[in-house]
Amino acid sequence: MSASPPKKLRSRAWFDNPDNIDMTALYLERYLNFGLSLEELRSGKPIIGIAQTGSDLSPCNRHHLVLAERVREGIREAGGIALEFPMHPIQETGKRPTAGLDRNLAYLGLVETLYGYPLDGVVLTIGCDKTTPACLMAAATVNIPAIALSVGPMLNGWHKGERTGSGTIVWKARELLAAGEIDEAEFIRLVASSAPSTGYCNTMGTATTMNSLAEVLGMSLPGSAAIPAPYRDRQEVAYRTGKRAVELVFEDLKPSDILTRDAFLNAIAVNSAIGGSTNAPIHLAAIARHIGVDLPLRTWQEHGHAIPLLVNLQPAGEYLGEDYYRAGGVPAVVAELMAQGLIREDVITVNGRTIGENCRNARIEDEKVIRRFDDPLVEQAGFVVLTGNLFDSAIMKTSVISREFRERYLRNPEDPDAFEGPVVVFDGPEDYHARIDREDVGITAETLLVMRGAGPIGYPGAAEVVNMRPPAHLIMDGVHALPCIGDGRQSGTSASPSILNASPEAAAGGALALLCTGDRVRIDLRRGTANVLLDEVELAARRHELETQGGYRFPPSQTPWQEIQRKLCGQLGDGAILEGAEAYQ
Ligand code: FES
Ligand code: MG
Repeated sequence: MSASPPKKLRSRAWFDNPDNIDMTALYLERYLNFGLSLEELRSGKPIIGIAQTGSDLSPCNRHHLVLAERVREGIREAGGIALEFPMHPIQETGKRPTAGLDRNLAYLGLVETLYGYPLDGVVLTIGCDKTTPACLMAAATVNIPAIALSVGPMLNGWHKGERTGSGTIVWKARELLAAGEIDEAEFIRLVASSAPSTGYCNTMGTATTMNSLAEVLGMSLPGSAAIPAPYRDRQEVAYRTGKRAVELVFEDLKPSDILTRDAFLNAIAVNSAIGGSTNAPIHLAAIARHIGVDLPLRTWQEHGHAIPLLVNLQPAGEYLGEDYYRAGGVPAVVAELMAQGLIREDVITVNGRTIGENCRNARIEDEKVIRRFDDPLVEQAGFVVLTGNLFDSAIMKTSVISREFRERYLRNPEDPDAFEGPVVVFDGPEDYHARIDREDVGITAETLLVMRGAGPIGYPGAAEVVNMRPPAHLIMDGVHALPCIGDGRQSGTSASPSILNASPEAAAGGALALLCTGDRVRIDLRRGTANVLLDEVELAARRHELETQGGYRFPPSQTPWQEIQRKLCGQLGDGAILEGAEAYQ
């Protein structure tokens, strides 16, 4: 690790620029104004931004307000100057219509901040679902030295002696409520029990997934992702992250050195082993496009599908975030895959060493929580990528398919991986909520539920609504899950057997718009196909009819950003980034 600054710090262009003494004076006087000294600003010390995602509006990341103090101390200790600034808030469970709308907005804001202010490096405070990709996407675009600090998961939730996990308990509780087994007060109590402390969702939802993958990508310190938010180790790693941010500037180690194609392939492998969220392919595609790495959706099946599920966390398993950390966290998972030759060991990470060096000696500390490779929870746990006459691409997380579902749908001796049934179509989540429990809708145990109008254009940002529970009367008959198909997303905390992220969405001319309730759809997981059993002629006639009516209808935008995002963003299969933004690198 070099102790001397690189030839010219980026921030010198603001504070030490003899070619433009007028502006230099103006920049200096205002940054001096809040207490920095001329000596500090012109000392050649790297200026490190702390991109603050925590706020009162973002409870998941709020603990970053505390951690930032330790980050500052680390930055100062290593000879840097810390400048903390706020990011646009993104609270997954608080933002209407969906936090998905805000990922690209926070990205844009952070790009402008990193590009336009005197920063030599940045600490990215990641955590709640969309905060991680928004930060990494912006760091990829601006490509100044950057290091991510996870806020860490909440402590485990408990209710009557059982672990209650974020999100996952909601899906369970709404079934109990629909079946009349609990009342509304108990419903709220049960759900609230899953959130006992500061931090992000304690299940293997999108937050734990994306924070784990940020570590695997090499963008945060090894072993740091899984530390629960309130643990003292979290404070320590905040300090070490601040120190390391300064060293990154001295070494000129940038996101483009770390976020290589091999790093993404490692992330895909680990995503299968942890049972990661179906939002991961969207966010990784977005980060990859902004850094200029080619990562088509089929890469997930090619590099991820054969890998088994090792991490026994809800929703696919039983445990929660504290257990994950105690069992060894990300390094233990990486080491287990590495022993099988499934990790590209030579990729450099943010601590200056390779992922192989960082993880080789990691051990699984509890084999109930992180299973050994030869004793997995599920074989072939990665995503299946599907295509057909309904969409160009969609994915299914096969690791969460329940035994009930497997027996009901996948055990046809003639074709063990295929299932088929009539569909019931919903246009957006409001339509679903209004009609799901009405008996005249005609949902049976053979029905496939379809959700459309929920993609990045139809429901700006793409709603997490494809995981639809069956109607109450079926739940009372013991049917806990029906296959779902949709052009929206679903929560990473859901164990629903869904085919989701369908691209293109109905609102972008996708064929889901042509489906009618009662059509039969056939899914073949082995061949990777999903088709409505209608011929080309019928589909063309329906398309003509729809087009003469002005195309698929969706609700109007309520804010300027909704309108802008609808005009500019791409489809989920390609990361749903602002199309054209990847040109700025
Ligand atoms: Fe923020 Fe789950 S709601 S991490
Ligand atoms: Mg979510």
